[in-house]
Amino acid sequence: MPFEVAAALHFTDQAHFHPGRYLAGIAEAFVHEGGNIIEGVRAREVSEESHHCTVGTAAGELTAAHVVVATHYPFLDRGGQFSRMTARRSYGIAAVLPGGSNAGMAINAGSPTRSTRTAMLNGEELLIVVGEGHGVGHVSETGQRWARLQQWTQERYNVTDFRYHWSAEETSTLDHVPFVGFAAPGSNRLLLATGFDGWGMTNGTAAAMLMRDLILEQDNSWAATFARRAETSLPGKEFVKHNLHIGKMWLKDRVGGPPKGSSEELEPGDAAVLKVDGEQTAAYRDENGALHAVSAVCTHMGCTVGWNDGEKSWDCPCHGSRFNPDGDVLHGPATAPLPKQGLG
Ligand code: FES
Repeated sequence: MPFEVAAALHFTDQAHFHPGRYLAGIAEAFVHEGGNIIEGVRAREVSEESHHCTVGTAAGELTAAHVVVATHYPFLDRGGQFSRMTARRSYGIAAVLPGGSNAGMAINAGSPTRSTRTAMLNGEELLIVVGEGHGVGHVSETGQRWARLQQWTQERYNVTDFRYHWSAEETSTLDHVPFVGFAAPGSNRLLLATGFDGWGMTNGTAAAMLMRDLILEQDNSWAATFARRAETSLPGKEFVKHNLHIGKMWLKDRVGGPPKGSSEELEPGDAAVLKVDGEQTAAYRDENGALHAVSAVCTHMGCTVGWNDGEKSWDCPCHGSRFNPDGDVLHGPATAPLPKQGLG
């Protein structure tokens, strides 16, 4: 590392992958083997029968002998996985690394978390720094998180040319071991894989190998660790704590009500949850002065969404669904948009 650390563990033979190219290669192999990839169609439900599953989508139904739900947060709640998972957003920046600079692939053990790696893009070496994670919907002022990452990076690396910033959502199980296997007790055609905790390239690949064996009824020694947990897992202390927190979120706005105020008080760029004709309304005035108003009640299980100023979205603190200012779903488990709402 180009700066002092108290101590470090060094892992040899670590590889860098380009996630997009890795995925493109898998997709190409899948199509080559006769698979079809259909994008831009939202799956809304899956019913499982003795000989097949039926998937209900926004564009009609399709059937398959087996269905794998490999979404971030499962949009189905057969095994109650949603009550045993958390959703976090984390932030990334990329800066040009001058030639000859030393930058490792590393993650710290302390807090705040910072992880670094390099990547080549169009002949330039970039330093990528990721961190500043938080529970989805738990903070509004998200825009400043990129600035904090930038400051941390400038203090430690010889970089000034910051090119990119972004954020991403990660889902974890309460004990940080993914759920991979049949979706619920009695399922033998519907599988899910989720809770990769930010390690999706390795966990996703391992999950695919395990699910292949489950579908083909082949032995796999990983099944004992992963598969049963997807179906059932006894509530522990973390489970109780997590769901008490979600219960409190759900109750908060019903008991106390959303903050008072009116849409006229919103300046361009401002957003607030308002009470309009007794309805919780998520209102945002865009930079051109136009108002966007939708229901503030998440269509997944009814928690109240909160504003994310860095990404201009309404985020749900309960299970991580996200919606754009016009209510369209950006991220599940919600599958239905927030209904448009009048402002009285
Ligand atoms: S994501 Fe579950 S209630 Fe919003």
